[in-house]
Amino acid sequence: MPEFQTHAMYPDATHDEQSRQNFIRTARRHVLGTVLGGAGQAYKARARGAFEKAAGKQVRGPIDVLKAMDADPYGQMTGSLVRTTQEMLYDTVGPSIARQLPELVARSNAYAQSNRKRGSLMLDPNLALPRYHAAADIHCKPGAYHSEIVPDDVLAGAEYDRTINVFYMGSMGPWNDDMGMSLGHWIKKNYPDLKPKRILDMGCTIGHSTLPYCDLFPDAEIHAIDVAGPCLRYGHARAEAMGKTVHFAQMNAEKTPFPDGHFDLVLSHIMLHETALSALKAIFRESHRLLAPGGVTAHVDARPFKDDPFDGYFNEWLAHYNNEPFMHTLAKLDLADIAAEAGFPRKAAFETRIPSWFNPPMGTLMAKEAGTWFTAVARKAG
Ligand SMILES: C[S@@+](CC[C@H](N)C(=O)[O-])C[C@H]1O[C@@H](n2cnc3c(N)ncnc32)[C@H](O)[C@@H]1O
Repeated sequence: MPEFQTHAMYPDATHDEQSRQNFIRTARRHVLGTVLGGAGQAYKARARGAFEKAAGKQVRGPIDVLKAMDADPYGQMTGSLVRTTQEMLYDTVGPSIARQLPELVARSNAYAQSNRKRGSLMLDPNLALPRYHAAADIHCKPGAYHSEIVPDDVLAGAEYDRTINVFYMGSMGPWNDDMGMSLGHWIKKNYPDLKPKRILDMGCTIGHSTLPYCDLFPDAEIHAIDVAGPCLRYGHARAEAMGKTVHFAQMNAEKTPFPDGHFDLVLSHIMLHETALSALKAIFRESHRLLAPGGVTAHVDARPFKDDPFDGYFNEWLAHYNNEPFMHTLAKLDLADIAAEAGFPRKAAFETRIPSWFNPPMGTLMAKEAGTWFTAVARKAG
């Protein structure tokens, strides 16, 4: 794995801030690996039987597994540790970013106002935030992605850049760009005839998954949209700092102002699970509308759990206790069917697992698919 790299927008950390962040990274590795990894044993040895005896029925799905584990001391300890370390992640990184916010805003403004900038930034302060986005602090991130506390705010974006580095525990490549690298390489290999002129990344946050497409498709114009202004400002400055040309815009992926057939590739990376059922369907319809004939859409996200109910335990836990409610419904959907409903030919729509470019070990619960990303893919009729 190449070493983690920084860039001119990357927030710094004092010795003590760095030590706290290192502690959280190590704690999460232990909690999500070793502790969560023991949950299956506790479930089989004790929790499932206790649930079935008390409920007078067999475990039928992930929600029953969650109830069984919530009543078991091992499940309670695991849940408490996952939630506590998640909150500590933001408690640790947030104040460090707030301390240097004026300097980060000044740097971001300098990139936005530079007449030598490569890409662009278009903000829409009147854009209505979807309710699923604003109603809860998604995955316990205070203020979610969109909250602003100073003019030209970049706090949520800068915080995201540092927290993903802590959160992914160093497994996501030098620029935290494993998803973009993985999907970009996979598309090149599997659709060699596709020569995209324009690419759209939906729900880009700070564009870390967007940037690999600049190098993988050097002839394409790269666009990245999100509803969250502070992330877009930071993402634009980050891309400029890294010498990449991306056009960032504040738009809702459910309905964008781009003309019909404007793109050849429409992508998202772990955006769908933070939406809602009606929004997800609208996003697939919008992807279809935006694609030129023969264009491809691909959405990386949480994998569905269709077989062993225990496989769905952790996503159910995230839905209930980590402010990611749509995980519950998403896990039961067939995204190829949804793509077909949205207008893609059913035979050109499928769910798959694409290999991770940096091949990260993703923790014990995901061991069966370690090194892959669950992805829904569809190609518009030519
Ligand atoms: C988990 S983050 C995605 C991170 C990033 N794409 C990556 O590769 O890691 C989800 C992002 O989707 C954005 N988002 C959620 N709903 C959206 C919508 N309807 N339109 C545009 N962006 C949306 C959020 O603001 C957030 O930045």
